[in-house]
Amino acid sequence: MDAPFVYVVRFWLHPDGAAAILHWLDSKHMAEVVAQPGFRSLRRVRLDQDSEDGWQAYMMIYGLESREALQRYFDSPAPQRYAQERKPFEQHLRLGRDRFFHRLTVRTMQTLDVLGISGSLREKSYNTALLREAARLAPAGMSIEIASIRDVPLYDADLEACGFPAGALQLCERVARADALLIATPEYNFSIPGVLKNAIDWLSRPPHDARLKGKPVAIVGAGGRLGSARAQYHLRQVCGCLSMLPVPRPEIFIASAWEKFDDGRLTDQAAARQVEELLAALAEWTRLLQRAAHA
Ligand SMILES: Cc1cc2nc3c(=O)[nH]c(=O)nc-3n(C[C@H](O)[C@H](O)[C@H](O)COP(=O)(O)O)c2cc1C
Repeated sequence: MDAPFVYVVRFWLHPDGAAAILHWLDSKHMAEVVAQPGFRSLRRVRLDQDSEDGWQAYMMIYGLESREALQRYFDSPAPQRYAQERKPFEQHLRLGRDRFFHRLTVRTMQTLDVLGISGSLREKSYNTALLREAARLAPAGMSIEIASIRDVPLYDADLEACGFPAGALQLCERVARADALLIATPEYNFSIPGVLKNAIDWLSRPPHDARLKGKPVAIVGAGGRLGSARAQYHLRQVCGCLSMLPVPRPEIFIASAWEKFDDGRLTDQAAARQVEELLAALAEWTRLLQRAAHA
């Protein structure tokens, strides 16, 4: 399921006596939320916003298929029952602290739109399969679409002078719209395949266009003995020329790809975990750069 929206519940815990009560809220209310249709995963994040008097800030993150899923949840019996239970709960809290509910906030955040580009046109490409698996493993709040570079013609300055051909233009527009890129590259003769370099050459035109400048990009690759490592380093070099910003780590070199995929699925659990780690790093990297751009 795609999760184009995330639902964030911010809450505070106190390390002294309130912990048991708040655990009740965790396990009950939070479990009810995640059981809702249209809600996906759940992650608890410790925030760097503790209050002076010892309350520790957290947020719970849920992936949502649509805004309607959130509305359906609010209209369902669970939050209404929760509201009814809130009064005695507040009375109970008042014995100790009563600020918890004042601080409970709900908001939706914009999803991260990631565009996947494979450097292989092959139907049974491991690299394209890797992108499909990444889309499946994407964390809440990230959606990954895959763009084909099959219709991008060979770069020719005369062709460019007559106006961008449709295939190149379409790719440029999709890249411009994306918050970040995920490029999966095979290794051809110790470097990146010509089709990928050709697509990047179109994306780099005209030179003053800002569509690649500062664009966050995660690089992965599947292939032979070195898992496309040499190609990935060449790709990082090209990114540097274009002022793109590759996620520094983790690096993912899926070596002996034929042993790690079965019928297009990534069956190697260690590799799947690495992909999840890279996507989490991409999300963090992209949000960091977005914050810096708006600071
Ligand atoms: C022209 C060509 C050159 C290649 N050169 C290398 C190479 O230098 N190093 C390597 O590990 N594999 C090399 N390979 C093997 C490919 O990287 C491997 O077949 C890979 O799975 C292709 O990616 P795909 O499965 O996404 O299509 C080469 C393959 C081709 C067709």
